[in-house]
Amino acid sequence: MTTTYRLALLGFGVVGQGLAEILRDKGAQLEREHGARFVITAIADPLKGSLSAPEGLDPQELLDRVGREGNLRGHAAACDWDALHTIDHAAADVVVEMTYTDLKTGEPATTHFRRALQRGCHIVTTNKGPIALHYRELAELAAQRNLIIGYEGTVMSGTPSLRMATTALRGCAISAISGILNGTTNYILTQMEAGATYEAALQEAQRLGYAEADPTGDVEGHDAAAKVAILANVLMGASIGPADVEREGITRLTPQDIESARSENSRWKLIGSVSREGERVSASVRPQRMPLTHPLASVSGPINAVTYTTDMLGDVTLVGPGAGKLATGFAVLSDLLDIHARRRVIRL
Ligand code: HSE
Repeated sequence: MTTTYRLALLGFGVVGQGLAEILRDKGAQLEREHGARFVITAIADPLKGSLSAPEGLDPQELLDRVGREGNLRGHAAACDWDALHTIDHAAADVVVEMTYTDLKTGEPATTHFRRALQRGCHIVTTNKGPIALHYRELAELAAQRNLIIGYEGTVMSGTPSLRMATTALRGCAISAISGILNGTTNYILTQMEAGATYEAALQEAQRLGYAEADPTGDVEGHDAAAKVAILANVLMGASIGPADVEREGITRLTPQDIESARSENSRWKLIGSVSREGERVSASVRPQRMPLTHPLASVSGPINAVTYTTDMLGDVTLVGPGAGKLATGFAVLSDLLDIHARRRVIRL
C-alpha cells in the first residue's frame, strides 16, 4: 500500500531544488521500497514566485524552469500566494520550511511553524532559527496536536547527527558533545594550513556555496552557536538560545598561530561543545588546538563531525557533510521518511 504525502515548499532555493532532484531521481524507488509517495503540491518563494497544484508538480519541470528562467513565474500553476496563504490554503500534509535563517528572531520561519501546526500539517525544516530559539514551545505545540517536526537538516545537513543520538544511541546517557559544526570555518582553517590567506580562503568558501549569505555568521561562530544550542536543547533537555552560548570565532587566528600549532603536532579547529553536570548545561564555541591524534583533528575541508561522550560506549564520533544541495535535500527526505515511518498522515 502506498501512502501519499503532499508537500508545500516554503522556499525553492538550493535545498528545495536538491529535494526536487531527489524526488525526481528516487521517487519510484521510494514508492517501491518504502510505500511512500512524496508529491510537491505548492511552492512559495518570494523571489522565484509561487505555485499551487493539488494534483502535484513535476520536479523536472520545476528544475528546468528555474535553471532556464531563474524563476517559476511563467508556470501554468503560478499564483500570487505568499508563504502564509500557502500554509493556509495549499493541499498539503507537510510544510517543508526552507526559508532563510534569522538567528536573532527566528522569523519569518517561526510564524510559519505556528501557522502550519495550527492548520494540522507536519513540518520538516532545514532552518536553524526556530529550532535554536523556540524548540520547546514548538515541540509542545506539535505534540499537543499529534504532529511531527523534523529538523535533522539543522545540524550537519543530512549527516544524521541528531537522529544518531535520538535513535541509535537511545538508552545511553550523553554527558558531553563536541564537534566541528561549521563547514565554512573548517574549510578556511584547512586552506590556511595549506598556505592560503584568510581572505582568499573565505572568498573560496563563498564561491563554493558553504558560507551563509552574510559570512560573519560563520566566521564569528554564530552559525555554530545556533547548532550547539540545538544539540543542547534537543539532546540534553536544556533551554538555551544561541546568545547563551559562549562564543569566539576564527577571525583572531593568525598565520603564526596556525604555524605554531603545526610545529607542535596539533591544528586549530572551531569546536562547538555542550556538557552537562547534574542539571547544569554549559555550551561554547571557540577555536581549540587539537592534537593530531584526536579524531576531530583529521576532519578537514568543509566536512563536519560530532563526538558524543556516552556512559556505555565512551566516545562515538560521526563524520560527514554539513552543507550542500543533495546533502541537505537528503536531510529533508530523511525527515519525510521518518514521518512516514510514524504513520501519522493528517488529511486536510
Ligand atoms: N554556512 C554553514 C556552514 C552551512 O558553513 O556550515 C550549513 O549550516
